[in-house]
Amino acid sequence: MLLIKRGRIIDPANRVDGVFDVLIKNGIIARIALTIEPEEQGLRVIDAEGKIVAPGFIDMHTHLRDPGQESKETIASGCKAAAAGGFTALACMPNTGPVNDSPLITGSIISKALREGCVRVYPIGAITRGLQGEALTDIGALKEAGVVAVSDDGEPVMNAEVMRRALEYVTYFDLPVISHCEDKNLSQNGDMHEGFISTRLGLRGIPAAAEEVMVARDLLLAKMTGSRIHIAHVSTAGSVDLIRTAKAKGVLVTAEATPHHFSLTDEAVASFDTSTKVNPPLRSQKHLDALWEGLADGTIDVIATDHAPHGAKDKDVDYPSAAYGIAGLETAVSLTLSKLVHTSILTIEEAIAKLSLNPARILGINGGSLNEGGDADVTILDLEKEVTIDPENFRSKSRNTPFAGMRLTGGPVMTIVKGDVVWESESP
Ligand code: DOR
Repeated sequence: MLLIKRGRIIDPANRVDGVFDVLIKNGIIARIALTIEPEEQGLRVIDAEGKIVAPGFIDMHTHLRDPGQESKETIASGCKAAAAGGFTALACMPNTGPVNDSPLITGSIISKALREGCVRVYPIGAITRGLQGEALTDIGALKEAGVVAVSDDGEPVMNAEVMRRALEYVTYFDLPVISHCEDKNLSQNGDMHEGFISTRLGLRGIPAAAEEVMVARDLLLAKMTGSRIHIAHVSTAGSVDLIRTAKAKGVLVTAEATPHHFSLTDEAVASFDTSTKVNPPLRSQKHLDALWEGLADGTIDVIATDHAPHGAKDKDVDYPSAAYGIAGLETAVSLTLSKLVHTSILTIEEAIAKLSLNPARILGINGGSLNEGGDADVTILDLEKEVTIDPENFRSKSRNTPFAGMRLTGGPVMTIVKGDVVWESESP
């Protein structure tokens, strides 16, 4: 049992912003009131004065690497990293080995997560068998097994006809399709954003259009089919414009941006630090400006990590040989607070909605709000906490972050899942 005292509750779903006490019993929020006295034995009282009490954060874009690449991450370590990052739930992408393209794999991820994971895990099923972009998976059976969305993330569905059929198919199951928008013919396995800096560094460029042509295609297909589409890791100004226009016309599109895309430009690549190599790549300032605008005006609904852990074998190599990906779970919330909230791009309410309510709604899962009688998944934040990113302290098995040594302001101090404290910072 927990009693969270005097925290500022921000719950966008219920339009609540005020100082309340929260009583948690048996994994459920028993009461929210102005003052609750700690009457019962065995109650842990948490002093949250000056802190923010928010609905548990949900990362709708995590790569857990389990099964198949357990040296990079396991369900257990990925969940610990999520908890330390302030997340009470995550949705995991299907690019595992084997790919999560069958109910058997979905079921095994769910049961392993229940046994070994300290946060909630929601699997995302593949759109196509083996992520090959050809034959559709049995999406109905995947849904029955427990997937909350389908995606070939890591790979685009290059064939528009296949994407059309996937979008039609999911309408029977009310699942979103999460699209990794990349035209492989344009991206050509490039190393970084195509522009002045790629030319200067002599690295192979990935043009903004490699993303935008696929965003445009998928918006047209979503319009044609009347299906829901969610655009993963939006990184360019053109994508933001296309999504904004489509939303205004009633297309059922939602979108996410990652902390690395809204925090770093392609200038970071000049260090040749392979932890800056990510797909889509870090873009130029013009694109960051557009992402900030899209986040502020609601075009971009969600902040998601795209946590993509990789080990030394894949990253301690020359830049063109390195794997794409950034381990993001343990830096996302501090980056959001420092780069978006303390800069007044987003209000704290908006940031919380993009980290909890909006992903819950898109995935159709519980959570995203704080209600009496509801699940006690809670994230407590300290907006003023001074944070220096130190990958050596990561709970993730991987350390591939371009943010090492960065000083940020604000971060999570406690993560509560089903009424249990699954993580707390040493100095709250
Ligand atoms: O950088 C990335 N890494 N982008 C993706 O889309 C996939 C991910 C991975 O799985 O490593």
